[in-house]
Amino acid sequence: MSRNEHHASFDRITALLTAAISNARLYTADHPQVVRYLDAAYQALCVQLTVHPEITLLVIGNDLVVNDQTIDSQGRQHAQLVGLLRRNGIGRVSFAAGLQAVDLTAFVQELSSEESRAIHSRPGIQLGQVEVRSSEASDAGPPFASGAEDQELLETIASLASLRDIKLEELKALYHQTRRYEKIDLGSIDDMIKKFIGGFSRGINPLRLLADIKSADEYTFTHVVNVCLLTMGQAEALGFTGRHLYDIGIASVLHDVGKQFIPDEILNKPGQLTPEERKIIETHTIKGAQYLLGLEEIPKLAVLGALEHHIRFDGSGYPAIAGDWEPNIASQMLAVADMFDAMRSRRPYQEPKPQELILKIMREEAGTCFNPLLVDNFIRLITRTNPLAQAA
Ligand SMILES: [Fe+2]
Ligand SMILES: [Fe+2]
Repeated sequence: MSRNEHHASFDRITALLTAAISNARLYTADHPQVVRYLDAAYQALCVQLTVHPEITLLVIGNDLVVNDQTIDSQGRQHAQLVGLLRRNGIGRVSFAAGLQAVDLTAFVQELSSEESRAIHSRPGIQLGQVEVRSSEASDAGPPFASGAEDQELLETIASLASLRDIKLEELKALYHQTRRYEKIDLGSIDDMIKKFIGGFSRGINPLRLLADIKSADEYTFTHVVNVCLLTMGQAEALGFTGRHLYDIGIASVLHDVGKQFIPDEILNKPGQLTPEERKIIETHTIKGAQYLLGLEEIPKLAVLGALEHHIRFDGSGYPAIAGDWEPNIASQMLAVADMFDAMRSRRPYQEPKPQELILKIMREEAGTCFNPLLVDNFIRLITRTNPLAQAA
């Protein structure tokens, strides 16, 4: 099944669920109209669950993201579903194998009920909260208060930092494989991604794991691992889990793979680039995507990440895209992480910017360069003060 076909299926599932809920609010849950929509939604979910280990609906602002695909936010039906989920404090709904029709019916019943506000997870349906607070609320307090940290957490941070250092070398080897058009071995970074996921689920602030650049020609690898940390942290905070979160990690690691096809003298030039050189650098997006597209074992999300991570929220940036092209949510998170790491890094032509200035710039660029909700989520993430409290 192609990406477009998956998108159409997710679109249909959300439309059927919304229709079932709307009708259940008008009639009763056992009305034939409701039963018909519920049955169709259940069948469509079961078909997709033979292909995906789970189907996750995430509410991000007014958007609905199913697995990693944004469902058309203009659609009235989706807006209704988003509104209902938000009103009930639900930010994430995950359907998994073993989903029973009776449980889907009960879920729709609860969601459509005016009286009851208690909506429960059940076998095959897991519910979660996703809350993107305003950036103002997250600004209070120092970024690294350690009052609530336990020894075990500090040990986890230390072990992840040392894993990151080991993996920097392996990432370098992986990127060099690309340059020689060799098959990429993702096995070398598999455990890193999984361990990062474990760390973020404990509320670790990714700033504590960022690597420093040791030399100019190391920049790409250090940057890649930092962007991986900052993107996965965002995704985990938004509610991405399991395979989707893992694929976002892989996409982050590979986002700049196209730079391997740019001459070193341009890539590591100690000074401002000429307009011609800048144009050449910009081709790393298309070159990376083309390369990854030819590799079977790479998640397609990585192709999109490589292609779209320099496209701005307002559609400008590069490569040039059609007016109605909406970059994948993972690419939008990559763009936030990419810019943050670029601004905090010492480069031959740039002094590192202080964090406060970077955050000020990011707030100013919210809505033009970046998705404003993702900026809020990002600022909240990197100003985490009490990791253990995040899980509450
Ligand atoms: Fe890039
Ligand atoms: Fe980058």
